Amino acid sequence: MGDEDFPVQARALNHWFGRGEARKQALYDINLRIARGSLTVLVGPSGSGKTTLLTLLGCLREVQQGSVVLLGHELHGATPALATALRRRLGFIFQAHNLHESLTAAQNVMMGVQVLGRVDKAQAQAAAAHVLGLLGLSERLDYLPANLSGGQKQRVAIARALVGTPSWCWPTNPPPRWTATAAPMWWSCSSDWGRRAAPPRSWSPTTTASWTAPTAS
Ligand SMILES: Nc1ncnc2c1ncn2[C@@H]1O[C@H](COP(=O)(O)OP(=O)(O)O)[C@@H](O)[C@H]1O
Ligand SMILES: [Mg+2]
Repeated sequence: MGDEDFPVQARALNHWFGRGEARKQALYDINLRIARGSLTVLVGPSGSGKTTLLTLLGCLREVQQGSVVLLGHELHGATPALATALRRRLGFIFQAHNLHESLTAAQNVMMGVQVLGRVDKAQAQAAAAHVLGLLGLSERLDYLPANLSGGQKQRVAIARALVGTPSWCWPTNPPPRWTATAAPMWWSCSSDWGRRAAPPRSWSPTTTASWTAPTAS
């Protein structure tokens, strides 16, 4: 089993925060491999390093020591260009959904695919409407976040993360803030994504099975 079977791998990963006497180790010799198509839950007490690890695996923080291989690419010493390209293949759902308050639900989700380039506005609109529909928000496309409930906002954030058909998608801190509706919806959508053996090549808004993101390369 090679890199293709384990899109996320870490070896002998250590991480520190601070400098000098304030320098404090946050991660100790992390070794892990996450299998393609799997759903993985990272649990641990507050302050144990979950967010630090996720931000390293998600290319949001520079690797200081050890190795992270993401989608076959070493992140230790990666160029900013490679890091950017890889980030575009990931879906992030942040704890505080981070929706743009001045954009409608549909516009927020469209951004998730427009940043990838290679799709025109009509395609992005169709994709956003489709994913929001899957998440039960067809009637809320034109609502601003301020007019959505907490759970609806979470689902918009899920839609934004999934619309580009990322290679890997995770919520950074789901449980406390996730509603009873949003969590199972994320779970079933991402299972569908995760279980596909290979991303299809042509983009179509009509079925989940035929979605594909413009790839990073
Ligand atoms: N930006 C930072 N600067 C300094 N210390 C940090 C920073 N982020 C996290 N830490 C420390 O690293 C440790 C792990 O934090 P974190 O990864 O946020 O834990 P978790 O997500 O499991 O609650 C904690 O001791 C925390 O105080
Ligand atoms: Mg955390």
